[in-house]
Amino acid sequence: MTTAPESQPASLQSWRIDADALRAALPQALQAWTLDLVEETGSTNADLTQACRQAPWSDAGTLRLAYRQTAGRGRQGRPWQGQAGLTFSVALPLALSPSRLSGLSLGVGLALAQALGDVEAALGARVGLKWPNDLQIDGRKLAGILIEAVPAGPQRVWAVIGIGLNLVRDAQMEVALGRELAGVAEAMPGFDAQRDATRLLAAVLARLGAMRDAFVAHGFAPMAAEWSARDAYRDQPVRLLHDGQVLAEGMARGVDGEGHLLLETPAGLERITSGELSLRPAGGAA
Ligand code: BTN
Repeated sequence: MTTAPESQPASLQSWRIDADALRAALPQALQAWTLDLVEETGSTNADLTQACRQAPWSDAGTLRLAYRQTAGRGRQGRPWQGQAGLTFSVALPLALSPSRLSGLSLGVGLALAQALGDVEAALGARVGLKWPNDLQIDGRKLAGILIEAVPAGPQRVWAVIGIGLNLVRDAQMEVALGRELAGVAEAMPGFDAQRDATRLLAAVLARLGAMRDAFVAHGFAPMAAEWSARDAYRDQPVRLLHDGQVLAEGMARGVDGEGHLLLETPAGLERITSGELSLRPAGGAA
């Protein structure tokens, strides 16, 4: 069933992150992180990938949040033009070879879903994961994630994690993306952007910090079972598309320890690497 976007709450026009409250809400392990909040930029991912190329290596992450992006980037070269949500990037230093990032984007999606549940259990319960790393509610996109890696040495890589999290549905963005969207507000009773945006961001940073430590120590494998349990399409027929062409069809069976999608096809169980593929429910639009 399709539903129309809600009208935008007036409070969404003017919300701002409370920088002091954000800092105070972060766990001790994240107190050394840089928190950078700006009114407008081209793309927070572009800003941080550029900064990481020159930055001295450090164990602390950097947040860059912009209230408006003029050249926001999405996956597969698509623009990200949303103005109705949180748009931010986190540069996470990983003491790993750049060849060991398999499954990182799924770990980020899981951390984001967990964070939403930390803030509001009812919201967490409604959020599903769509391989490789979208969050959705009832089949509508709630958040997108774009990860760019900046190698910094043999066992050092910056993962620049860009997140666009919709607070409300944005009709213009639905047209631009050609997809129905969801917003946090619809699944969070009494949502107040001025109060809740800071709480959401603090929860996301805390979960990202914990995920980083777990990922560096053990990779994605210990997260695979929880990811699969939150898979919105588990045990459903799906198609994998590239440039609108169907490349594979089968039953989605969760993910393996490296974040590959397990697809049951007539030829057997296939392991799909993410690359530039998009997943759709079988019978859905390309
Ligand atoms: C997707 O296509 O689903 C990924 C969208 C990622 C958008 C975010 S918004 C903050 C960060 N800066 C960017 O330019 N892109 C990411």
